[in-house]
Amino acid sequence: MSLFSKFACVLLLTSGHIFPVALAAQSNQSSSSSSGSVPTLNEQQKAGKGLFMQNCSVCHLPILENSKDAASGGPTIGPLLEGLFRGERPRPEEAVRTFIMRGTPKMPGFQYGLERSEIDSIIAYLKTL
Ligand code: HEC
Repeated sequence: MSLFSKFACVLLLTSGHIFPVALAAQSNQSSSSSSGSVPTLNEQQKAGKGLFMQNCSVCHLPILENSKDAASGGPTIGPLLEGLFRGERPRPEEAVRTFIMRGTPKMPGFQYGLERSEIDSIIAYLKTL
């Protein structure tokens, strides 16, 4: 083995040791910065929340101002979507996607109004509810 290849070998070995340490330090940093009691949404979920507010909240969130009982939130046109993917009857993700795209007689479909990736983001947000 030449001196050079020995050197290269040592380099490979040491870099293998340094990298995991650097990665661990980084992930420690990011987890400590997001430590808080309020659950934080990731980028996709945040985007989904924005899209949900624009396109869906009019029917799926209560209109607080018009409600006499603020705690109940008041009536909504569509059902509240809390726990859609959890609870007694968790909906299959593909069924929800198709539902959102096609709509119903009472709910508009969004297959031409939203990109597939935007519907993905909304679904990612709904999973946090
Ligand atoms: C014009 C009002 C309206 C808008 C806007 C609307 N919805 Fe709906 N949605 C409804 C109604 C009403 C229902 C109940 C189903 C029915 O009666 O046809 C429903 C049902 C649903 C369901 C099925 C819930 C279940 O229990 O399975 C999902 C999921 C849903 N909507 C998601 C969305 C999303 C996501 C958006 C925005 C991209 C949206 N809706 C926009 C009115 C609306």
